[in-house]
Amino acid sequence: MKYLKRHLLCAISSIIICDIINSIAQSGCTSPAIQCRCQQRSITFIINCRDKRLIQIPIFNKTNAEYDELTFGSPYPDASVCSVCNRITSIPPRAFANLRVKRIDLTNNALTDISNDSFAGVEPYLKELLLQGDRTNELNYAALKNLTRLTTLHLEKFQQTTLNSSNIFGYLQNLEFLKLKTFKRLSFIQSSAFKNKVSKLKTLWLEGLPLVVYPAGAILNIPSLQSLNFINTQVKKLYSQSFRDLRSLKELDLSHNLIDSIENDTFTGITDTLLFLNLAVNRLGYNTNKKESLNFLSSQHWTDLEQLSLAYNKLDTIPDGPFRNMPKLAYLTLKSCQLSFISNGLLQGLQNLHTLDVSENRITQISSNAFVHTPQLKELRLDRQHKESIKELALNFPPTAVEPIRASLTHLNVEHNRVNVSQIWEIIKFLTNLEELKLRNTNLVAVPDFVFRYHTQLQILDLSENQITSFDQKSVHGLKDTLTSLSLSDNNLTTIDECVLQNFSKLNHLYLANNFWDCDCDLIWLYDWIEMSAEPGIEYIVEFVCHSPPSLRENLLQTVNRSHLSCTPAHIPHTCPDYYSTSTIPTTITTTTTKALPVFKIFITEAMIFSINVFWTINDKSDVTGYILSIVDLQNNISRSLKSLKRDNTLFRFKGLQPQRAYTICLQLELNNVRSDNLVSCVTQSTKSIPVFELFKKTVIDTYIEVNWKVSDVTEITGFLLSIVPLKNVKDIRYETVPKDRTSFIFKNLRSIESYEICLKLIIKSQVYDGEKKCKTLQTKQTIKTKQMKTAT
Ligand SMILES: *[C@@H]1O[C@H](CO)[C@@H](O)[C@H](O)[C@H]1NC(C)=O
Ligand SMILES: *[C@@H]1O[C@H](CO)[C@@H](O)[C@H](O)[C@H]1NC(C)=O
Ligand SMILES: *[C@@H]1O[C@H](CO)[C@@H](O)[C@H](O)[C@H]1NC(C)=O
Ligand SMILES: *[C@@H]1O[C@H](CO)[C@@H](O)[C@H](O)[C@H]1NC(C)=O
Ligand SMILES: *[C@@H]1O[C@H](CO)[C@@H](O)[C@H](O)[C@H]1NC(C)=O
Ligand SMILES: *[C@@H]1O[C@H](CO)[C@@H](O)[C@H](O)[C@H]1NC(C)=O
Ligand SMILES: *[C@@H]1O[C@H](CO)[C@@H](O)[C@H](O)[C@H]1NC(C)=O
Ligand SMILES: *[C@@H]1O[C@H](CO)[C@@H](O)[C@H](O)[C@H]1NC(C)=O
Ligand SMILES: *[C@@H]1O[C@H](CO)[C@@H](O)[C@H](O)[C@H]1NC(C)=O
Ligand SMILES: *[C@@H]1O[C@H](CO)[C@@H](O)[C@H](O)[C@H]1NC(C)=O
Repeated sequence: MKYLKRHLLCAISSIIICDIINSIAQSGCTSPAIQCRCQQRSITFIINCRDKRLIQIPIFNKTNAEYDELTFGSPYPDASVCSVCNRITSIPPRAFANLRVKRIDLTNNALTDISNDSFAGVEPYLKELLLQGDRTNELNYAALKNLTRLTTLHLEKFQQTTLNSSNIFGYLQNLEFLKLKTFKRLSFIQSSAFKNKVSKLKTLWLEGLPLVVYPAGAILNIPSLQSLNFINTQVKKLYSQSFRDLRSLKELDLSHNLIDSIENDTFTGITDTLLFLNLAVNRLGYNTNKKESLNFLSSQHWTDLEQLSLAYNKLDTIPDGPFRNMPKLAYLTLKSCQLSFISNGLLQGLQNLHTLDVSENRITQISSNAFVHTPQLKELRLDRQHKESIKELALNFPPTAVEPIRASLTHLNVEHNRVNVSQIWEIIKFLTNLEELKLRNTNLVAVPDFVFRYHTQLQILDLSENQITSFDQKSVHGLKDTLTSLSLSDNNLTTIDECVLQNFSKLNHLYLANNFWDCDCDLIWLYDWIEMSAEPGIEYIVEFVCHSPPSLRENLLQTVNRSHLSCTPAHIPHTCPDYYSTSTIPTTITTTTTKALPVFKIFITEAMIFSINVFWTINDKSDVTGYILSIVDLQNNISRSLKSLKRDNTLFRFKGLQPQRAYTICLQLELNNVRSDNLVSCVTQSTKSIPVFELFKKTVIDTYIEVNWKVSDVTEITGFLLSIVPLKNVKDIRYETVPKDRTSFIFKNLRSIESYEICLKLIIKSQVYDGEKKCKTLQTKQTIKTKQMKTAT
C-alpha cells in the first residue's frame, strides 16, 4: 500500500519531483556547494539546488568534476505561493567559474541583475542555459555573448519591445533550440531578426508574446528549422505562403492563438514535410466564412502528416472530407469542437487513422457509415458529449457503425454520456478485441449476462458511477485470463459473491467504493482477499465501506472483526457454476434452435484502377466454416467466384479488373459446411479510371530534346516509360523508364535536323499500361555552329 501511495502521489504531482524521490540516493557524486545536493541518475550528475530557499547563488568550491546540470528551478508553477522556492535575483560576476557544468537552469527565479561577466569561466562547458526575469527588467544580453557553445537558450519573462537584427544570436553559432516565453511587450519581430544568424537552429519556441501578425518574414530566414512552436500570441490570420521555405519543418504547433482564418496555400511548401500539426485552441469556425474554415486542409496534399489537433475550435458546420488528403494521419483530435454528429463523410480518406478523439462535443448522432473509412481505428474517445444541463439528449450510436472497426478497435471510451443502453451493449458485443472499455457514468443499471463471452483481450473495465444493482459471475464471464482492472465504484450494489472474480489471475486493481454493501458472510472472501493484497506486489484498491447491518455501517471492511461478517443459519452458501465447460452454459446461449444467425456485412476498403479491396465483419464466427466470394462485371455480366476462403479471413483483393468498370461483389457464408442463399451480403463499386495524361515539348535544340508531362492523379503510378524513335529508322527505337516523381526527361546525343517520335506510357503498379500512349513528333534544330556560319556568309 505504501508503494501504491507514492505512485499515486507521483501521478498527481510533477514527474520531476518524483524522479528525484525515486532516484536512488547519491553515491559517486558530491555537491560543490554546501546548500545543494549532488544527484546521480544513471550516468548523469546533477547539482540539485531546487527548493532550498536560496536568495543568492551559493559559493561553489573549485572542482574538476564534470556535471550535467545545475538547477535552481522549481516544479511549482507559481513561486509566489511556494515557501521553499528559491528567490535568486542576481548573478554575480564569475558565479560559476569554478564549475564544469553543461546546463544551468535558473527558471522560477526572478532575475533582475545579470552582469557582463556572470558566466565568465564556464563558457567552455556551458551548452544549455535557462533564465527567467521579473517581467519588468531587460535581459543583459552582453552577458551571453561569449557563450558560443550554447545549443539551448530558454529566456522567459524579460522586458523587451522588439527583436531586430542587432540581437546577439549571431554570436551563438551553435544554437539549436531557442525559446522566448512571456515577453509581455515584445510585439514586433523584424524580418531581419534571424537572417544569417542561427544557421543550426532546429527548434524555435515563441510563447506568450503579444504579436498580432505572424512574423513570417523573420521565421522564413531560418531554413534549418525542424520544429516551430508559435503559441499564445494575438495572431488572428495566417496568410498564404507563410512557411514556404521551411523545407525541414516536421512539427508545427500553432495552438492557443486567435486564428480564425487560414488561406488555402498558407502551408504550401511544408505540406509534404510536416508530421505534426497543432491548431488547437484557436477561433477556427467563428468567423462568417465558417463553412470554409478547413479548406486549407482539404485543398492540399498532406503526404506525411501523422498527427493533427483541431481541438477547441468550432467545427460544427464543416463540409464532408476535410481530412481526405491525409493518407498517413494516425492521430486526430477533434475534442471540444461543438460537433453535433459524425457524418458519413467526416472521416473520409483516413485509411491509417489509429486514434480519434471526439470527446467533449455535442454529438447526438453517429452515422452508420461513419467508420467505413477508418479500418485501422484502434482508439475511439467519445466521452462527455453532453453538458449536465442538457443530458436528456441521448447519443444515437447505431451498432452497425462499428462493424468496419470491429477487428481493429481496442480502446473505447464513452464515459459521461447518456447512451441508448441497448445499443451500447450491442456495440460491446461486437467489439471482441477491446482491451479497454470505459463506461463510467452512462446510466447503466445492469450488465447483460455473458456480454463479454467472446472478449479475449479485455484488461480494463470501468463501470463506475452507474446504478448497477447486481453483478455476478455471468457479468464478467470470459475475462478471467485478461482482466487487470475492474471498477464498480459508485453503483447500487449490495453484495459481490465469491464466484464473480474467482480465478481472475491478472486482476490487480479493484475499485468498490460507494455502494450499499451488506457486510455479511458472503463477503468473507473479499475480507481475506484484502488482507492478502497487503502483500507487496499486489495493488488492490478497495475502499469498501459497509452500509449494513446497522452495527457495521460506515465501517471499512478491513477494520471489521472477521467473525462479525455473519449470516443467518438459513443462508445457503454459494456454489460457483463452471460456465467455461460448455455443458453448463445456459441453453439460451447455445441451443441451435434459438441461436441467432451471424450478423455480417461486406465493405469496400479501397477501389483502385485494376483492383478492389473488400473487407467484411461478422459478429460470431463460431459456426462459420468458410466464405464464398464472387464478383460480377456489370458491363458484360461475366462472373467469377472464389470458394472456401478460410474462416479467419476478413480481407480480399480482387485483382486484374478493368479500369472504370462497375462490379458487384458478394460474400456468402457457409455455416457448418452448408451454404445458405439467405446469408449473402453484396456491394457494388466501380474501379478508378486511368489517369488523364498529356505529353509536352519543353526544349528542342540541335542535339537534345526535353519533354515534360502532366498526369491527373499519380497515386497508383509507379513510373513512366518513354520511347524515342527516329522517323527515318524506326528500328532504332530506344526506351527509358523514369521514376514516378519525375515530370520531365531530356533525350541527349541526338542528331541535328532529324525528326523523332517520342511517346509516353504510364507504369501503373509496376506494369506498363499499354492501353494508352501520348506521342509527339519533334525535329531537332541545326547545330549552332552551322547556323552561325550560314548567317556569316
Ligand atoms: C568548500 O571549501 C571549504 C574550504 O576549503 C570547506 O570548508 C567546505 O567544506 C567546502 N564545501 C564543500 C561543499 O565541499
Ligand atoms: C557590458 O557590455 C556592454 C556591451 O559589450 C558594454 O556596452 C557595457 O559598458 C558593459 N558594462 C559594464 C558594466 O562593463
Ligand atoms: C569575452 O571574451 C573575450 C575574448 O576572450 C574577452 O576579451 C571578453 O572580456 C569576454 N567578455 C565577457 C563579457 O566575458
Ligand atoms: C533593436 O532593439 C533594441 C532593443 O532590443 C533597441 O535598443 C534598438 O534600438 C533596436 N535597433 C533598431 C535599429 O531598431
Ligand atoms: C480554397 O480551396 C477550396 C477547396 O479546394 C476551394 O473551393 C476554394 O475556392 C479555395 N479558395 C481560394 C480563395 O482559392
Ligand atoms: C435505442 O436503440 C434501439 C435500437 O437501435 C432503438 O430501437 C430504440 O428506440 C432506442 N431507444 C431510445 C430510447 O432511443
Ligand atoms: C440507486 O441508488 C440511488 C440512490 O439511493 C437511487 O436514487 C436509485 O434509484 C437507485 N437506482 C436503482 C436502479 O436502483
Ligand atoms: C472478534 O470478535 C470475537 C467475538 O465477538 C471476539 O472473541 C474476538 O476477540 C474479536 N477479535 C478481535 C481481534 O477483536
Ligand atoms: C476456478 O478454477 C478451479 C480449478 O480449475 C475450478 O474448479 C473452479 O470451478 C473455477 N471457478 C470458477 C468460478 O470458474
Ligand atoms: C447475367 O447473367 C445472369 C446469370 O448468368 C442472368 O440471370 C442475368 O439475366 C444476366 N443479366 C444481364 C443483364 O445480362
